[in-house]
Amino acid sequence: MITIKDNLFLLQTARMSYAFVVGRNRKLIHLYWGERLADIRDLSHLATQMDCANPANSLFYLEYRGQEPYDFMEPALLPLYADGARGVRLVYQSHVVENDSLRVVLKDEHYPLEVTLVYELFGDLDIISRKAVIRNCGETDIRLDSVKSATLNLPPIAGNYRVTHYSGEWGAEFGVNQCELTQMQLVLENHRGTCAAHQHVPFVAIDAESATTETSGDVYFAALKWSGNFKISIEKGYSGNVSITAGINDFDTEWTLRPGESFETPALCCGFSSSGFERMTEILYDWQFDWLAPRPKAHTIRPIIYNSWYPYLFNINEQNLTALVGKAADVGAELFVIDDGWMPKRVNDKAGLGDWVADKSRFPNGLRPISDACHANGLLFGLWVEPEMANPDSDLYRAHPEWFLADPKRPNFLKRSQLTLDFSQDIVRDWAIDWLDKLITDLQLDYLKWDMNRYLSEYGTDRSMPICYIHNLYNVWKSLNERHPNVLFENCASGGGRADFGMVEFADRINRSDNAHPADVMILHEGFSRLFVPKTAGGAGNIAKDPDVPLPFRIHLGMTGSMSIGIDLLKAPQETLDELRNATAYFKTVRADLQDSYVYRIASARQHPYCVWQYVRRDRKSFGLFGFAHGMREWDHAQLPRFKMRGLLPDAIYTVEDGSSYTGRELMAIGLQLPFKRQDYASFFKFFK
Ligand code: DGJ
Repeated sequence: MITIKDNLFLLQTARMSYAFVVGRNRKLIHLYWGERLADIRDLSHLATQMDCANPANSLFYLEYRGQEPYDFMEPALLPLYADGARGVRLVYQSHVVENDSLRVVLKDEHYPLEVTLVYELFGDLDIISRKAVIRNCGETDIRLDSVKSATLNLPPIAGNYRVTHYSGEWGAEFGVNQCELTQMQLVLENHRGTCAAHQHVPFVAIDAESATTETSGDVYFAALKWSGNFKISIEKGYSGNVSITAGINDFDTEWTLRPGESFETPALCCGFSSSGFERMTEILYDWQFDWLAPRPKAHTIRPIIYNSWYPYLFNINEQNLTALVGKAADVGAELFVIDDGWMPKRVNDKAGLGDWVADKSRFPNGLRPISDACHANGLLFGLWVEPEMANPDSDLYRAHPEWFLADPKRPNFLKRSQLTLDFSQDIVRDWAIDWLDKLITDLQLDYLKWDMNRYLSEYGTDRSMPICYIHNLYNVWKSLNERHPNVLFENCASGGGRADFGMVEFADRINRSDNAHPADVMILHEGFSRLFVPKTAGGAGNIAKDPDVPLPFRIHLGMTGSMSIGIDLLKAPQETLDELRNATAYFKTVRADLQDSYVYRIASARQHPYCVWQYVRRDRKSFGLFGFAHGMREWDHAQLPRFKMRGLLPDAIYTVEDGSSYTGRELMAIGLQLPFKRQDYASFFKFFK
């Protein structure tokens, strides 16, 4: 709900309010972000105080920060005008409300630059989207050296805020990192072109004085919907004022606005939870399920995948894949994915990337017979591609060297023997749309796995490239989604290298990590599922091939996300095949509930040699309980507490498959003794309905 009275603007969601005011000096001053207020009257004192008490002080709280005299905090916008002057000093002009969206127009006091702040609500959900549209209203070019989506201000508190961010590396994505925000500027950023969870997910959560827990305390959080270079700057001044300025990274980037042109930033979406990090996760899930994820698939279950990568790597051909199709169907898989290695000369990572036809020597009849075999066996058919890349040893590179990112005089740096296509060129975008569209149609693909296995290094000479690259990347994904609304798309970038909220709108599955080792997945999945809906949590094989870890443990882990089998079914013993078949059959009976659930982290493997995850269906009528333990000692067993469940209906009766029943109240107040076996890699799953 958006309420405007006189000069006050109040945005209300179910449990959050956000407010700002047009000051007497016509500056837009932030007033409030936090627990829901009853109505605009609750703001009257704050508005008077912020507007009049000390005009210099109110500059700390600008709703979109330019460069006011003596305001030295991180600006959201840094323009350069034709006369050499820099900076922006914005005043309010007008506003317009349309349904759940508000646009506030600001103008520079001296230069012909207009900034429209756009606020959008998602119904009652406790998230507001903010972005800025910058327009050149003059007759000469204006260069934008920095153009961020928004400034967010937090209320000053007596102690320090704590910052939580999700960072990592290839194979170690989604680490949960926390630090205290003292008087400083803390910058989370990447300038590798794209990389998200291999460095930082463009997301930050802030709570007061480290006091917030999973279930209590205030959390302010912000997600940037951008898959390219980003910068989130969190700044605390001496007087306790804290602000976040976030958007596209200004690293080696600029954007020129010709007269009459506009630039729209990506959205920075800010949310609030007054009941800890778990509620933050619930809000993020609702946002993905009900608003962001591609329709019509947002609420459908994810098929069980068989993927060729871990067992076969590049060693694939018509014979072994055809044999695998039958085996995959037999163990209950529902989607068969041919991973890397199907193109000409692609027997290792040195060649073939970029030439998107099947290798004649290994697939004399192309891939269509495998697609047909899948469909005949009742399986969906999926294929791996890496459209942004090519090896120098490819026909594509030989034909179009000018399509690749390069510096004029420096040699190109090869990573994994590959070069990056310059997606900022519209001709490359159109080429990608054409061949991908044709591939999907010709091969009757039900699933496309889009991979991306290197960062960008030679940026070339056009400093708008990092922005145009991502705009065109989104254009390709958008167009494929529009043309093929029922095809499932996987967002993979060497694992979680593009796991960000910008991509959530286009992809049904996110490759969580290339690291499928079960002991590591106990940690990785916790970080992933704090932000992203678990049914999207993919990987080439999350029922991994590690023979040292008992199969039930790997199967239970597979059940926590989008299940995929990465075991060599042609060599697996009969008992493994039988176990897999039973497991997939059982999983199918509980999957719809598990994949429409919130995840509560009852115990974390970051603190214990075990973890307990409760998957509570969003209507709270059923839940699944997972436990995983690795490296438990006798004394750990002796000290296991009763684990209290969360988020249930107190008066509801929940019945387990063995027939025992519990009230929700009992499960939450008293809890459960959990059946961890006295062995390494012990796991269990119980379903309560
Ligand atoms: C990296 C991906 O994360 C893997 O799943 C696999 O597709 C390989 N690339 C193939 O090269």
